[in-house]
Amino acid sequence: MAQIFPEWTNKLPGRIILSGGVLVILAIAGIWYYWSPWYTDVGYQPVQPIPYDHKFHVGELGMDCRYCHTGVEVSPVAMVPPTQTCMNCHAMVKTESPELAPLRESWEKGTPLRWVRIHKVPDYAFFDHSAHVSVGVGCESCHGNIAEMEEVFLDQPLSMGWCLDCHRNPDPHLRPVEDITVMGWTPPEDQPARAAAIKAALDINPPETCSGCHR
Ligand code: HEC
Ligand code: HEC
Ligand code: HEC
Ligand code: HEC
Ligand code: HEC
Repeated sequence: MAQIFPEWTNKLPGRIILSGGVLVILAIAGIWYYWSPWYTDVGYQPVQPIPYDHKFHVGELGMDCRYCHTGVEVSPVAMVPPTQTCMNCHAMVKTESPELAPLRESWEKGTPLRWVRIHKVPDYAFFDHSAHVSVGVGCESCHGNIAEMEEVFLDQPLSMGWCLDCHRNPDPHLRPVEDITVMGWTPPEDQPARAAAIKAALDINPPETCSGCHR
């Protein structure tokens, strides 16, 4: 009898089921990975218009973060400083430096420098710096030890799982509010007791419900 389908097609339904199964597993793995803290750009370090060095200005000159990131305690955004802030010193210091040529050009023409943004959460998630630093979450918990970075890179994943990990248990990250910009801070031995005291005093209660961050 003439066969309508060639013989190899006998195994086809099995293969379809099998490969379908593989696809489903791949899809689940993909979604799981995408949602997990491993899917991130940790280490992201774009080239900046000027090789501004945090390690030197903060680590060696001893400048405080808030001298430049003026919004961090009072608003959602920390803000990257305008040319004027750099010129407070560089109108007098290293005025001939070729590395600072773009700074001088920006100053003379009145055009802002185009720093490349490194940390960014999507618009559908709400983040507020002041809410964090005002209760004693240090810059370092989220940005790493900036005083040791010649160039800033993404130190933490900024994923939803990462946010929630700390919201569920912020205790290891709570320090005295006056120390928020200190780099190289290590929790003292009695950190659990101190964290409990800070939480009680400042009534700290990080949101874990969806609407806390997706408003
Ligand atoms: C003299 C000014 C100055 C000081 C002081 C300073 N910064 Fe910055 N910061 C900058 C400039 C300019 C940039 C943008 C260029 C870059 O990324 O290096 C920046 C970028 C950053 C970024 C990355 C922003 C982004 O695009 O995501 C972080 C995080 C940051 N600074 C944290 C800190 C912390 C923490 C301190 C204190 C320990 C500090 N900075 C001190 C000038 C400063
Ligand atoms: C409080 C003063 C001060 C401020 C504000 C400041 N700097 Fe500096 N900067 C210095 C000093 C001091 C040096 C080192 C000078 C030396 O090596 O003799 C320096 C060195 C540099 C150098 C290296 C220049 C070279 O040729 O070696 C760069 C680049 C630089 N700064 C960029 C910036 C930028 C960009 C800003 C603004 C975001 C800024 N600085 C703000 C004091 C400052
Ligand atoms: C709880 C975590 C957390 C803490 C604490 C924190 N940051 Fe940030 N920072 C972020 C996140 C998340 C972003 C990206 C925000 C966005 O896209 O709106 C960011 C962005 C920034 C930026 C670039 C964008 C902007 O807001 O202007 C700078 C500069 C910065 N942070 C500096 C600081 C400094 C300085 C401190 C300490 C005084 C600090 N941050 C403390 C999480 C944190
Ligand atoms: C290292 C710890 C830590 C990390 C990481 C962290 N948070 Fe928080 N967050 C806190 C603490 C502590 C509070 C509680 C403030 C309070 O109750 O006063 C808070 C409060 C908030 C609030 C409430 C602010 C308000 O005005 O009501 C929002 C929204 C928020 N966080 C969003 C985020 C997002 C989005 C991320 C991740 C991109 C994040 N947080 C990462 C510790 C953290
Ligand atoms: C502490 C803050 C916070 C809370 C609470 C939170 N989210 Fe998110 N969510 C985020 C941030 C930040 C992102 C962006 C993550 C990224 O860029 O990888 C995000 C991303 C998402 C995304 C997009 C996922 C993706 O991979 O693109 C969805 C969907 C989402 N959240 C749903 C929820 C739901 C549902 C809840 C409640 C069960 C919730 N979120 C609670 C901070 C939060």
